[in-house]
Amino acid sequence: MKKAGIILDKDYQIGRVDDRLYGSFIEHLGRAVYGGIYEPGHPLADEAGFRKDVIAAVKKLGVPIVRYPGGNFVSGFHWEDSVGPVEQRPKRLDLAWFTTETNEVGLHEFAAWTKKAGSDIMYAINLGTRGPEQARDIVEYANHKGNSRFSDMRIANGQKDPFGIKVWCLGNEMDGPWQMGQKTAYEYGRTANEAAKMMKWVDPSIELVACGSSGSGMPTFGDWELTMLNECYDNIDYVSLHRYYGNPTGDTQNFLASTMDMDDFIKSVVAICDAVKGKKHSSRKIHLSFDEWNVWYHSNEQDKEIWKREKWNRALPLLEDIYNFEDALLVGSMLITLLRNADRVKIACLAQLVNVIAPIMTRNGGGCWAQTIYYPFMQASAYGRGTALNAIVSSPKYDCKEYTDVPVLDAAAVLHDDGSVTVFAVNRDLTEDVLLDLDLRSFGTLKLKEHLVLHHDDVKAVNTEENPDNVKPVSVPVVESTEEGRILVKLQALSWNVLRFE
Ligand code: AHR
Repeated sequence: MKKAGIILDKDYQIGRVDDRLYGSFIEHLGRAVYGGIYEPGHPLADEAGFRKDVIAAVKKLGVPIVRYPGGNFVSGFHWEDSVGPVEQRPKRLDLAWFTTETNEVGLHEFAAWTKKAGSDIMYAINLGTRGPEQARDIVEYANHKGNSRFSDMRIANGQKDPFGIKVWCLGNEMDGPWQMGQKTAYEYGRTANEAAKMMKWVDPSIELVACGSSGSGMPTFGDWELTMLNECYDNIDYVSLHRYYGNPTGDTQNFLASTMDMDDFIKSVVAICDAVKGKKHSSRKIHLSFDEWNVWYHSNEQDKEIWKREKWNRALPLLEDIYNFEDALLVGSMLITLLRNADRVKIACLAQLVNVIAPIMTRNGGGCWAQTIYYPFMQASAYGRGTALNAIVSSPKYDCKEYTDVPVLDAAAVLHDDGSVTVFAVNRDLTEDVLLDLDLRSFGTLKLKEHLVLHHDDVKAVNTEENPDNVKPVSVPVVESTEEGRILVKLQALSWNVLRFE
């Protein structure tokens, strides 16, 4: 058995975990909205057409904020299409996903849904085909009290009180050639700055997320952040990061090491933000919004076939990745990585929430079930709030195809406001258990109250509508402390663990 250790001290703190670290994302894409959250006529639909089983599953995840309405979709979106009488809303070709958008669900409907789901909206504006003018209009529509053109339009559309949307994304992945209205970093930085100024003049209480490069693998990465921040630093609050990983070659050890890259990505963006801060002699600190993260690769080939057959249809079953057990382990490690960077990552969105690369799946007219990745997210959201601790981890390491010195044990710890502590840990070893020696001396009397484990003997095991509990966490018997302040725990080979101390 391998050996690893964690030292925790209540005074070694990384920073406050912003609840919005457990955000998610719903795009007008595939069956996320139509057939996902919204399916009038479904036996479990409420009076507004929203599926109650999906709302219940979202509520169990505890998602405080949902990014909406895109994604790539937003770069061709006209917000005015999505408000007013539903029967008068236009059908539009969506050039992001080659489907037809009917606008049956728009801002008012989505706001009502987020209320039911116990969440808030993080609203993305179109800075692809549109600009600052339409950006200020939608802020006025959504957040201004009344007695102006767009706020009065909202009131006439049945919403007297402002929606009060706090967080706004200034476009999406604007360096991507796949994006409608792709821009250079300078063009984007200038447009984002002007949009930001006008949006904040309408409502000074809002927070704005500027698009970082659409991934660390982009040739634009780094220079994009530097150039665009140079233009809009003073008027934005967060820079966005997006990253998806996959395992197309079936190399589990390498796949599970992907968070080495994620951590590096975060640290690089922080360094660039702080370099611009220094250059500008600014006292403002820009934080990060990791507003798209997940595993995404299973559905790529299937999607090409769908487009060949059904281009321009409504609610195509796109990006419907079926997640397996190893995906859940990586999602667990990604959550650990976010927690370890909680001082700078203040918002994060698991992309996405329902059907589209999602923890929750539905069948049209049928059931709703949790994919494997649902569980680490649910547990981190439930037990990962408070203050992130600087866990000193000692672990055996391994080398794999793309990474060297990968710790077998990946871990993060959170101190809760009531003094209890939760440790999240992934054992990345394919075959060997790890004996973890936890040193919690500074906490005095803390005892291991619960040990939750997610494991399956088959890394490719999945959950389905017929077999929804195939991959699901269990509570295992807890071990007694070996001596004052020290606890030994066995972490099974390939497992996600939640250790709750009280
Ligand atoms: O989440 C799916 C897509 O991935 C989003 O629309 C886009 O922003 C990213 O490329």
